[in-house]
Amino acid sequence: MMHLFVAVIFVALPLFPVDANAFTKTDFPPHFLFGASTSAYQVEGAADQDGRKPSIWDTYAHAGNGGAYQGNGDIACDQYHKYKDDVKLMAKMGLDAYRFSISWSRLIPDGIGPINPKGLEYYNNLIDELTSQGIQPHVTLNHWDLPQTLEDEYEGWISRRIIKDFTAYADVCFREFGDRVKHWTTVNEGNMCSMMGYDVGAVQPQRCSPSSIFNCSKGNSSTEPYLVTHHMLLAHASAANLYRNKYKVKQQGFIGFNILVQGYLPLTNTSEDVIATKRAQDFFVGWYLNPFIFGDYPAIMKKNVGSRLPFFTSTESNLVKGSIDFIGINFYYAFHVKNSPGSLQIKNRDFVADMGVELIYIPQNISLHEEIPITPWILERMLYSLKKEYGNFPIYIHENGQLLPSKSLDDRPRVEYIREYIGSLPNMLRNGLDIRGYFVWSFLDVFELQSGYEASFGLYYIDFQDPTLRRQPKLSALWYSNFLNNKTAMKIEENSSLLSNTPHIAT
Ligand SMILES: *[C@@H]1O[C@H](CO)[C@@H](O)[C@H](O)[C@H]1NC(C)=O
Ligand SMILES: *[C@@H]1O[C@H](CO)[C@@H](O)[C@H](O)[C@H]1NC(C)=O
Ligand SMILES: *[C@@H]1O[C@H](CO)[C@@H](O)[C@H](O)[C@H]1NC(C)=O
Ligand SMILES: *[C@@H]1O[C@H](CO)[C@@H](O)[C@H](O)[C@H]1NC(C)=O
Ligand SMILES: *[C@@H]1O[C@H](CO)[C@@H](O)[C@H](O)[C@H]1NC(C)=O
Ligand SMILES: *[C@@H]1O[C@H](CO)[C@@H](O)[C@H](O)[C@H]1NC(C)=O
Repeated sequence: MMHLFVAVIFVALPLFPVDANAFTKTDFPPHFLFGASTSAYQVEGAADQDGRKPSIWDTYAHAGNGGAYQGNGDIACDQYHKYKDDVKLMAKMGLDAYRFSISWSRLIPDGIGPINPKGLEYYNNLIDELTSQGIQPHVTLNHWDLPQTLEDEYEGWISRRIIKDFTAYADVCFREFGDRVKHWTTVNEGNMCSMMGYDVGAVQPQRCSPSSIFNCSKGNSSTEPYLVTHHMLLAHASAANLYRNKYKVKQQGFIGFNILVQGYLPLTNTSEDVIATKRAQDFFVGWYLNPFIFGDYPAIMKKNVGSRLPFFTSTESNLVKGSIDFIGINFYYAFHVKNSPGSLQIKNRDFVADMGVELIYIPQNISLHEEIPITPWILERMLYSLKKEYGNFPIYIHENGQLLPSKSLDDRPRVEYIREYIGSLPNMLRNGLDIRGYFVWSFLDVFELQSGYEASFGLYYIDFQDPTLRRQPKLSALWYSNFLNNKTAMKIEENSSLLSNTPHIAT
């Protein structure tokens, strides 16, 4: 009996977390995808070339980004002209998939109406280049870059008119690219677009109430974040419905939605903070997942937001419910949540006040221009919590990565960050989470939403002063490539001294 008991323990051991130093790609299921991400405005450049018209991001960047940083995406990485070389780098690196977005205002410059043949040609070329190298294109339709024309015409996401126009745009994409693109994400970080763009007013289209510290020229933080999310949900559902009725049988693809998931942990173990933590999760994540899975907003949102929260008709509810084949999750930061019900007394309160919580970064003194703390255990905890609440839906980790000053090729902290997160995934998969893929943000140094060119997440370094915009692999690119090629040691001898000083590289 004892022997058997010991034997059972030995057999069971591999179920516990693998030694993070020792994992290889073979610790993952064969169809698990590894990729890297970018988005159109952040890499393409050629902003006014070949018929492209501005998006709300062009407008925001050219207005000076609220003074947060210099620069814009006029040239960015010039992927519009350099896509062939970039795809070569991706193939060499061993990426299974590339997550990028289509610039709506490049494909359909006014948001509605005629297709721009040059835009169509560009995305066809990019997709062909990827598929010819065996790299899956994972395409986002809207990544913070609504056509400016639609913003001017009817204030974009605030109006129900966006539902019809977004669906027509999606229709063009499905029709033109759906023979090769099997993974569609309608909107990137819907929750952050609503909150940062329409409540806080810190980013495009910079709408907020006069009470916000950001000086928005218009907006209403009490109502607009909710309208924007409502219309995103309906636009997504309408596009998904179209895909399923018109394209799915032939194209056999999948359609999902992307949200930023942050870690939410109670500050203390008091029931107040534990309940407040659930409330924060309901507001940030349940805001989207509850409608997608159950067809309605979370009860606590209805209670706290009241008549400012739009409602779904039963037809709309049925359309939204079940409209995602997968959820795309971006994960970077985590918070402690403190119950703070005082904000619920504020008249004309905003989305943040409706939550009745205080959010405290982990660790408390973090600055958004510093390295991001490495907390894969918090991601794991969040995913279990979401599974418990919403069931075991398919997940792609669409973004995860480390922010560093972009100057150094020796980005050891990024290697450590990516290694820790990737190394934590096999255990999550063994424990039953349905994670289908992991994408590093970002493939290249890009024009960042909150830091421009001043800090970056890229695996490849670009000196933006150098007119050739040459791509140079950072240590993280070499590490990722090594991992993806299932090598047990770094192959690049020249870098061996650097690498031998790097602890924890899979050996
Ligand atoms: C926002 O809209 C609400 C509801 O229509 C209104 O009561 C409030 O005064 C508006 N706030 C601002 C700042 O315009
Ligand atoms: C808003 O405007 C005030 C007064 O002009 C200024 O002091 C403040 O820095 C501005 N805030 C931002 C975020 O630009
Ligand atoms: C809350 O309780 C858990 C489990 O007992 C414990 O691990 C954790 O440290 C506690 N957290 C705080 C903030 O007291
Ligand atoms: C933040 O706190 C940690 C731990 O207390 C400390 O090591 C670090 O230097 C602090 N960072 C800043 C920017 O204050
Ligand atoms: C690796 O070595 C090569 C050749 O010495 C060098 O050009 C490159 O910059 C090094 N890469 C890193 C990430 O240090
Ligand atoms: C990958 O590496 C592991 C560990 O060295 C090895 O067992 C496995 O056979 C390799 N797989 C492939 C496809 O090369």
